[in-house]
Amino acid sequence: MSNDTPQSPTHDQGLFKWLWRNYLSRFWPYLTLALLFMIIEGSMLGALSFIMRPMFDTVFIEGNEGAIRYVALAIFCIFGARAFAAVGQKITLAYIMQKMAAALRTDLLSHLMKQDGAFHQTHPPGFLIQRVQADVISINEGWRALVMGAGRDAVTLIVLMGVAISVDWKWTLVALIGAPLVLAPAQLAQKFVRARSREARDLGAKLATRLDEVFHGIVPVKLNRLESYQSRQYSALTDDLVKAEVRANAGGAIIPGLIDIMSGLGFVGVLVYGGSEIISGEKSVGQFMSFFTAIGFAFEPLRRIGAVSGRWQMAAAGIERLRELLEMQPTLVSPSKPKPAPNGVPEIALKDVRLSYGDTEVLRGASFTAEAGKTTALVGASGAGKSTVFNLLTRLVDPSSGSAEIGTVATADMKLEDLRGLFSVVSQDAALFDESLRENLLLGRTDVTEARLQEVLEAAHVTDFLPQLANGLETQVGPRGSSLSGGQRQRVAIARALLRDTPVLLLDEATSALDAESEAVVQAALESLSKGRTTLVIAHRLSTVRDADKIVVMEQGAVVEEGRHEELLAQNGAYARLHELQFKTSGPTADSVALASQGRRRKGSAGAARGSSRRDGSSLLSRISARLFRR
Ligand SMILES: Nc1ncnc2c1ncn2[C@@H]1O[C@H](COP(=O)(O)OP(=O)(O)O)[C@@H](O)[C@H]1O
Ligand SMILES: [Mg+2]
Repeated sequence: MSNDTPQSPTHDQGLFKWLWRNYLSRFWPYLTLALLFMIIEGSMLGALSFIMRPMFDTVFIEGNEGAIRYVALAIFCIFGARAFAAVGQKITLAYIMQKMAAALRTDLLSHLMKQDGAFHQTHPPGFLIQRVQADVISINEGWRALVMGAGRDAVTLIVLMGVAISVDWKWTLVALIGAPLVLAPAQLAQKFVRARSREARDLGAKLATRLDEVFHGIVPVKLNRLESYQSRQYSALTDDLVKAEVRANAGGAIIPGLIDIMSGLGFVGVLVYGGSEIISGEKSVGQFMSFFTAIGFAFEPLRRIGAVSGRWQMAAAGIERLRELLEMQPTLVSPSKPKPAPNGVPEIALKDVRLSYGDTEVLRGASFTAEAGKTTALVGASGAGKSTVFNLLTRLVDPSSGSAEIGTVATADMKLEDLRGLFSVVSQDAALFDESLRENLLLGRTDVTEARLQEVLEAAHVTDFLPQLANGLETQVGPRGSSLSGGQRQRVAIARALLRDTPVLLLDEATSALDAESEAVVQAALESLSKGRTTLVIAHRLSTVRDADKIVVMEQGAVVEEGRHEELLAQNGAYARLHELQFKTSGPTADSVALASQGRRRKGSAGAARGSSRRDGSSLLSRISARLFRR
C-alpha cells in the first residue's frame, strides 16, 4: 500500500458529493422512484418473517384451519409485491445508469478534445479510451451498490430487526454480539481494496494504450515481425492486471466473509441463550420461528451491505481518476475579450517568436511576413521548426514571447474557433475516418449542393479516381482511410479544404510521401486550391516551391534568408546549399527510382515491352517535371 494516499472519510464524501452534484442529482425523480421500489422490496422480507408467527402459532399449533387461507393470501401478496418492486427497481436503475454514463462520457469527450497538445502527448489515446469507457462503468457499479445498499438492503435490515426486536430485544442484542469484532478488519480490507483498484484502473489504461498502438501500427508490427514482442509486453501487463484485480476482489470478499462469521456467532449465541426459554415455554414456537427467519433473512442484505464498501472503494478509484481529468484546464483558451477575426484574405506575420517544448527552444526569434493572397514557402532542414510555425499560427501551441498576427489581429486575441476557422490545413496525415467517402468530404455539413460538390471533386482531382472505387462516393474508406492510396487520401483532404473555403491555406509536406505520378496530380489540385488564398507551404522537395512568391529559409528555429528562388540562389547562402544538396542527391536518383518502379509495375508483360515501358516512363517523367519546373 505504498502508493496509498491517505483516505479520509471526508475525501470519499467529497467524491460522492461531486458525483451527486454533477451527474446523479439530475435524476432525482427516478432515484426516488427506484428507492420507493427498493423500500417495498426490502420490507417484504420483514413481512414474511412476521407472518411466521401466526402461521405457526395460530394455524399449526392452535389448528385454526380457517386462518390458512388468510395466511396463504398474505404470503402470496408479499411475494407478488416483492416481484413487482424488484422488476421496477431494476428497470429504473438501469435507466439512470445508462443516462448517467452517457452524460459523463459525452462530457469527458468534449472536455478531452479541448485539452492542449501537451496533454494529449502525455495521455495517449488508449489511456483516454479506457477512462471514457471502463472507468465510467466502474463508477456506475459503485454508486448502484451504494444506492441499493442504502435503499433495499438497509430497509430490509431495519424491518427485519424490527421484527426480531418485537419478538425479544435481548435475543436481538445477543445476535448482534459479533458486530464490533468485524469493524477494524473491515476498515483495513477497505484500504487494501482501494489501493489495488487504483492499480487495476491504471493497468487497464496501459493495456488499452498498447492495444491502440498495436492496432494502429499493425503494418509496421507485421513488417518488423514484432508480433511476439508485442504479445509478451501485453501479457506481462495482463499478468499484473490479474494480480491487482484478484487482490481487489479478495479484499472485497473479506468483508462479507467477516459478516458471515459475525452472523454465525450471533446465531449460536441466540440458540444457547434463547433455547431454554422455548423449552420452558416462555416463548412460543411461532415467536421462535419468526425471530430465526428474520435473522436468517438478515444475512444476505448484511453481506451485501458489507460488500458495498468494497464496491465503493473500486468505484472511488475510478471517480478520482475521472474527476482529475475533468478538472484539468487547458491553457490554450480563447481570450476573455476576443477581437473579431479579420475579413477577407489576410496577410500573416510572425513577430520575433520564441517557442519551447519543455526546455528545448524550437523557435528562436522567428520573424517573417506572408503577403495576402500570395504563396509563401517555408524551407529548411528537418527539425528547423517549420511545422511548429503552423502549430503556432493555429494555436496548437503558444509562444513564450513574440506574436503571430493574421491581418493585424494577434492570434491570441481571437476566439479559438474563429482563428481555426481561418485555416485549411493539408498535411501528410489526411485524417480520414472510417465512413463513406461522401461523409468524409462533407464532415456533417448539410449546406453543400451536389453541384458544388462535383465542382470541388473536379478541382481536387477526386473525379480522376472515383470510377475506380466500387461504390463511388458511397465507398467506405476503411479505418484512417486505409483503403485509399496516399495520393487519393491527399486529394480527399484537398477537396475538404476547398469545401471549407478558408482565406488561409497551410500545406505541410502535403506531397512528400507521394510517388512522382500522384505528386503531380496532387500538386495540380493544390494549385487550384491555393488560388485567391494566403498560402503557406512547407515542402521538402524544393522543386515544388520554386514558383512561390516568397521563400523563407529557416535554420534552427530562426529565419536566415528570404526572397524568390533566383534571388536566393544568387545569394549563394543557406538556400543555395539546400538546393545543391537536393539536386546532387535526389535529382538523378529520383529519376532512376521512378523509372525502376515504372518498370516493375509492368513486369509480367512481355519482355519485349521493356524498352517501350522505359520510354513511357521517361515521357511521363518529362511531363511531370515540365509541370513541376514550369518557369
Ligand atoms: N510536441 C513536441 N514536443 C517536443 N518537441 C517537439 C514537439 N514537436 C516538435 N518538437 C521538436 O521541435 C523541433 C522542430 O520540429 P518541427 O517544427 O516539426 O520541425 P520541421 O521543420 O521538420 O517541421 C524538432 O527538434 C522537434 O523534435
Ligand atoms: Mg515538419
